[in-house]
Amino acid sequence: MATKVIIGAQWGDEGKAKIIDILSEKAEVVIRSQGGNNAGHTVTVDGKVYKFHLIPSGILYPGTKCIIGNGVVIDPAGILEEIDGLLREGISVDNLRISERAHVVMPYHKVLDGIKEIARGTDDIGTTKKGIGPCYMDKVERSGIRFCDLMNEEVFAKKVKENVIVKNKIIKYVYEQDIQFDADEIIAEYREYANKLARFVTDTTVLAFEAVDSGIEVLFEGAQGTLLDIDLGTYPYVTSSHPVTGGVCVGSGIGPTAIDECLGVMKGYITRVGKGPFPTELFDDTGDKIRNVGHEYGTTTGRPRRCGWFDAVIGEFAVRTSGLTSIALNKIDVLSDIKTIKICVAYSKNGEITKHFPASLEELAKCEPVYEEMPGWGVIDHIKTYEQLPKNAKAYIKRIEKLCGAKVTMVGVGPNRDQNIYVN
Ligand code: GDP
Ligand code: IMO
Ligand code: MG
Repeated sequence: MATKVIIGAQWGDEGKAKIIDILSEKAEVVIRSQGGNNAGHTVTVDGKVYKFHLIPSGILYPGTKCIIGNGVVIDPAGILEEIDGLLREGISVDNLRISERAHVVMPYHKVLDGIKEIARGTDDIGTTKKGIGPCYMDKVERSGIRFCDLMNEEVFAKKVKENVIVKNKIIKYVYEQDIQFDADEIIAEYREYANKLARFVTDTTVLAFEAVDSGIEVLFEGAQGTLLDIDLGTYPYVTSSHPVTGGVCVGSGIGPTAIDECLGVMKGYITRVGKGPFPTELFDDTGDKIRNVGHEYGTTTGRPRRCGWFDAVIGEFAVRTSGLTSIALNKIDVLSDIKTIKICVAYSKNGEITKHFPASLEELAKCEPVYEEMPGWGVIDHIKTYEQLPKNAKAYIKRIEKLCGAKVTMVGVGPNRDQNIYVN
């Protein structure tokens, strides 16, 4: 393996950071390509918990270069907080680089995120309110501000002034809110950020190309998950970027020929935060048990995650739309205490069976899961090899492999670095 893309194959929080952390031991470069600090990535090393939002989790390995690519939207205050946190832990950030093409999350993006959610009323998306959607909106609308602009005092001031005039009008006249921004205050606040971040900002497309070209091991760290993709996910209950493998090329400035392997991370069940249809969602004690045993509460917002049975229709969709070459199946230890485990193998819609994830949310809401039942396997969090796993756990893994159409190469039996089993 030289270059490997790691993406979330469900609705996010599949344990991507844990997999990145394990694979980072051998990787020299880790690159983030999309999303922002809406992501919450947790790594546990010897019982100590590290939380990341923007910085690739490879930063825990001294010497590993960590790149935040052009497709990421960056809140300067957010990243500085993360950098300070790492420095307090004695972790060096000297190997961090930020793309000069990445867009800057501005204070009005965060406020607009919240205001838009209120205006949506009961149809709210349940965003993280980190300004992600409004920042990507400005990028696509071509009025956004990039890191290269932030580094140029004159250009930055001009762009902030232009934007503040428009945003203040939108806030006042469209959303009828009292909040108004002062361009000079923002410019002064962001000047400080620019000074602190300048040493990290560069043309990361060159670094990415050189890394790939030299044949060293490069990892691309996905954020969010397939069903949160703006094109392929459960629109409009999605994020505003491309968490699928296709997003990696644009978001880090490499070509598709640079990618050797695509690993999709799944959990042995499904969770989602925010709103939108979720066919296998559990509203009973089993759902509560999974939430409590799996500590399914958001890293970024602390919200309880909605929990449900593994859905192979989603699994197949992720394998197909991202060209996944393998699967990392995390958190099957969480199911240890459940006697009979269900897998959704298809949907039944008005008596018709389908194995394809529908585009229309109205159609998805009509889909009833078709379940297969499998016997549980008891405690496994101490197990180190695939051979030692109980036969019921192996059967579950093999069934998921068959239904999704890609080989399971890694199995998670706990949050720690050493609670991962490689499957031969
Ligand atoms: P990410 O956003 O995909 O990186 O995932 P999160 O970090 O938001 O959520 C995954 C959570 O599950 C974290 O708290 C991890 O420490 C934890 N985790 C990861 N893999 C496993 C596993 O195999 N078993 C258990 N019990 N926890 C895991
Ligand atoms: P990681 O990388 C899970 C969800 C939000 C909301 C929707 C839109 O930790 O897997 P946004 O703030 O992006 O506009 O919110 O997307 N969401 C995530 N859910 N994991 C994430 O990231 C998420 N990032 C965004 O909850 O439903
Ligand atoms: Mg997460």
